[in-house]
Amino acid sequence: MARNVVITGAASGIGKATAKAFAALGDRVFMTDWKEETLNAAYNELLPQAQEGMLHKIAANVAVPEDVAKIEALVSEYGGCDVLVNSAAVFRVGLLHNAPMEDYDFQFDINVRGIFNTCKALIPHMLKKQKGAVVNVSSVSGMGGDYNMSLYCATKGAVIALSRAMAMDYSAQGVRVNIVSPSAVKTPMFLTGCSEAVREGFRKNMPDRRLCEPEWCANVIVYLASDNAEHLCGVNIPVDGGLTAWNGQPNQEK
Ligand SMILES: NC(=O)c1ccc[n+]([C@@H]2O[C@H](COP(=O)([O-])OP(=O)(O)OC[C@H]3O[C@@H](n4cnc5c(N)ncnc54)[C@H](O)[C@@H]3O)[C@@H](O)[C@H]2O)c1
Repeated sequence: MARNVVITGAASGIGKATAKAFAALGDRVFMTDWKEETLNAAYNELLPQAQEGMLHKIAANVAVPEDVAKIEALVSEYGGCDVLVNSAAVFRVGLLHNAPMEDYDFQFDINVRGIFNTCKALIPHMLKKQKGAVVNVSSVSGMGGDYNMSLYCATKGAVIALSRAMAMDYSAQGVRVNIVSPSAVKTPMFLTGCSEAVREGFRKNMPDRRLCEPEWCANVIVYLASDNAEHLCGVNIPVDGGLTAWNGQPNQEK
């Protein structure tokens, strides 16, 4: 049976690839993003691939509860949310002692409060159905430290902790909460302003020597939301070409 799937950050990157993947399965997909123009473009791109009447779009800022209430109201018209994918996030670099307070608020408001807002609005739908799946997109940056991105790392660590604790509270009621943690993905978030030297640095460090395609994350998200993953609760899957399997020691060729 078709599910109602809400995807935040669906105008771009992983969110858009995920919307495409769910639409291909015949699910009813609600694409949401705060960038109305890019959201419209992404929606128009995916529309021919979706079943008739099964693709929706709604401009909303996840950090604003009133905007999230509009998403909730729309999904309610179609019987409530079955799957929530939180992909929307922002990223700023810089050393902590130089960071303006605005960098803290901006990243925490969207990356953490945004997930709080959407979950608070849509988990009641799932509780009513005694079934549902939430997939939160964190990052390997939430699993270990990164140079020059302490605030972003803190938001992504919070997403992992929040998701695990939510899994404790909701699993017994049929609502599974899981996490996907990518490394470098070929999306505007990573590629914008990223020199070829930095990209090559990432490729070299990655055990599989590749940067991630957004579709590879989408595939894992679709799996976590499916009944095939029915005993998976509070799991964090790194989609990172083996990066977090590495302990950081160099190759000891003798
Ligand atoms: N690209 C990477 O290398 C990478 C690595 C690890 C984790 N991630 C995570 O993956 C997720 C998706 O990122 P992406 O790579 O697809 O980036 P992206 O920039 O391509 O897409 C993010 C989307 O989120 C939207 N967004 C941002 N703030 C929003 C808000 N307040 N309300 C609604 N929408 C908002 C943006 O407009 C954009 O369309 C993010 O959570 C990101 O932190 C990305």
